[in-house]
Amino acid sequence: MKNMLIAGNWKMNTNVFESQKLVEYILGFVKTNATLKSKVLVCPPFTSVYAIGQMIENTKLLLGAQNCYYEEKGAFTGEISIPMLEYCGVSHIIIGHSERRSYFKEEDEIINKKLLAILEYNLTPILCIGETLDERNQGKTFDILINQLDKDLAGLTGDTIERVVIAYEPVWAIGTGISATREQVQEAHDFLRHFLVGKFGEKANRVYLLYGGSLSEKNADEILSIENVNGGLIGGASLKGDSFCSIIQTAEKYII
Ligand code: PGA
Repeated sequence: MKNMLIAGNWKMNTNVFESQKLVEYILGFVKTNATLKSKVLVCPPFTSVYAIGQMIENTKLLLGAQNCYYEEKGAFTGEISIPMLEYCGVSHIIIGHSERRSYFKEEDEIINKKLLAILEYNLTPILCIGETLDERNQGKTFDILINQLDKDLAGLTGDTIERVVIAYEPVWAIGTGISATREQVQEAHDFLRHFLVGKFGEKANRVYLLYGGSLSEKNADEILSIENVNGGLIGGASLKGDSFCSIIQTAEKYII
């Protein structure tokens, strides 16, 4: 069995009007392809989340957020809580993205608190992990992945693991136009599956393992055809409706 989730991470792009235009395009595609089996998710910036939630209500398109805070409410200036997002129709929340780890100094302990809180609200965390180029060159890729998984997934059990989506995003491939090769992705995803099943048991076979990092309509076929790849977390190419939808179409070929 192979499931697919194609997720667009729009990062800090698109105002409300632009977001709506992009969603109109994607919705058009999703509605004309009524038999789509892949899950399709868009993660716009916070300012567009409510408006897009209204547009996608009662459709097959899913709505995600790019971040959240783990407390429910209170004096946390500038933060957004999980129930606030849920109210807007959000089902998935990205956490641990390398841009948040590096620019905003988000550490594994905070990421773990967010992950557990998201699960408590019955939403789906998309946990991003991945090594830097230096770490890869020093042969530390798997150590880094294990370390991130151990810390970020602390407190999870064999029963809850299947509610988490994991995105392998090598930092050096994000936004650079240089995707990891088919061999590198396959090696990392096989390793992740094996590690998760070893740690959490059988249910980890059902965890969606996404690849992210310069995934586009050009390399989608090569990457989405890999056995342990269950979709992609797409930045740049998700801002163009036709590229994003072409990746969804490719994903459809590999659903078993
Ligand atoms: P990219 O971004 O597709 O632009 O490389 C992916 C991501 O950061 O999730």
